Amino acid sequence: MNPWVMLEEFPMQIRGANIESLNIEIYKGIAFSGMGGSGIVGDLAKTLLEKHNIHVPVVSLRGYSLPPYVEEGWLVFCISYSGNTEETLSVAQSALERNIKPVCISSGGRLAELAQKENLPHFSLPEGYPPRYALGHMLSLVLSLLGIKNTLESCSSFLKEKKEAIKEEAKKIAHYFEGYIPVVYATQLLESVAFRWKTQINENAKTLCYTAVLPELHHNEVVGLDNPITRNVCSFLLMFDPEDHPRVIKRVQITEELLRDFGVAPRVIKAEGESFLQRILYLVHLGDWVSLYLSELYKYDPLPVKTIDIIKNKLSV
Ligand code: PA5
Repeated sequence: MNPWVMLEEFPMQIRGANIESLNIEIYKGIAFSGMGGSGIVGDLAKTLLEKHNIHVPVVSLRGYSLPPYVEEGWLVFCISYSGNTEETLSVAQSALERNIKPVCISSGGRLAELAQKENLPHFSLPEGYPPRYALGHMLSLVLSLLGIKNTLESCSSFLKEKKEAIKEEAKKIAHYFEGYIPVVYATQLLESVAFRWKTQINENAKTLCYTAVLPELHHNEVVGLDNPITRNVCSFLLMFDPEDHPRVIKRVQITEELLRDFGVAPRVIKAEGESFLQRILYLVHLGDWVSLYLSELYKYDPLPVKTIDIIKNKLSV
């Protein structure tokens, strides 16, 4: 499939799934397990649940193990687009060992087989996508299961309305990033979004990128700006949400001033949209387009992820 066509499709992927929501109130906590393009689903869901004032702990796991505090009574999601990611399969096994029946989400693979064998709930994803291009499908499914699906239609319409403006903005940001290491500074509310920007720039534009989060970055990262040799190879983008803590918004302004004092003109982006979910999706979609335009500027095919494949092959022997 063509990546440009798949990305155009993202707003259409955002829609409530025709499934019954889980009663999340009854669980002691919620854990999401997934890696890469599937792992981001857990990060975004955690961000949204916390903004919706969930009263139990929510963790997004990127690795082989369940932390010791995840026990019977927790809701565990195992999300792997291919269904073959060994870290996520390992978490599914650990959950079973703790008498937890994980909710499995994949387009097939060994996760689907495990779900069938162990009689676990399994939700199928449409086949044929690279994982990161199926984000809308995966996120819509998870949010529907979590009972956050009412606003998905309005988010989809919002993204469709904004499509041309998002693409125009993305082109400008890609030009701004070209030739530099993109550095994405985000507020804590947008940490998961900034991570999606990083990973999309890595995978689509085959380019290094890093992120840091406010307010934490005011306690370390800023000192690293002193060195012009490393500072001058970076281009800086700041993103914030209008509902960020007022002190954090003040910190965004201070960071912008600080960068200007260092002779750097950062790009500052305020999330657009009425609801938090709209704003998160707006920024995710903007970052996805940035990564595609950047791949075009660098003349890379966005689709292959050769190095990831090499590592997976090495691990499979
Ligand atoms: O974009 C990618 O291909 C990767 O980041 C994968 O998502 C990651 O390796 C995990 O694979 P999967 O999503 O199939 O579990």
